[in-house]
Amino acid sequence: MNNNTFVHKYLKPLINDESICVDMTAGNGNDTLFLSNLAKKVYAFDISDLAIKNTKEKVKNKNNVILIHDNHANIDSYVNEDIDLVIYNLGYLPNYDIKSITNKDDTLNSFIKAYRLLKNNAYIVITFYLAHEGGKDEYYLLDKYINDNKIKVIEKYRQDKLYSPITYIIKKY
Ligand SMILES: C[S@@+](CC[C@H](N)C(=O)[O-])C[C@H]1O[C@@H](n2cnc3c(N)ncnc32)[C@H](O)[C@@H]1O
Repeated sequence: MNNNTFVHKYLKPLINDESICVDMTAGNGNDTLFLSNLAKKVYAFDISDLAIKNTKEKVKNKNNVILIHDNHANIDSYVNEDIDLVIYNLGYLPNYDIKSITNKDDTLNSFIKAYRLLKNNAYIVITFYLAHEGGKDEYYLLDKYINDNKIKVIEKYRQDKLYSPITYIIKKY
């Protein structure tokens, strides 16, 4: 099973109609749509015009999605409530603009802010890609921050293939 399938399967029982979720990388809107089908509210960030357009189209029948065309490192300017779930699918929009690839500094800054907004017993799910330029550095930086700060990774998932993505399920206690 690929990482996206794993993530959706894992998260399904954890989200309900009270949940406040944040999709930090809306992309084509697949995760945003998945979350909006289960949650009370979904904030979805992306810096790419096309990603915002694609996500808007995907959730056009939903009234619980707040789409934000901005860097997820500015999460604290938009989200003023406690969060039940944060999801990251790092990297760039498949078949599109390599310029709007996630970068390690914004990812780390946004992670620190999102973790502060997270309720106790709530989750951050983050999928890292190692194959593209900068992907390994992003992974090492976040992994070091998580270890140094004793943040609890309750599950790691990776398919048994060279350069396959790595998913961390993080729980705040
Ligand atoms: C792998 S795609 C996400 C796929 C998406 N979750 C889906 O279900 O289709 C990564 C996305 O992150 C976005 N991105 C890159 N840097 C960002 C940033 N600093 N803030 C918000 N979005 C960012 C890219 O534009 C791209 O659309």
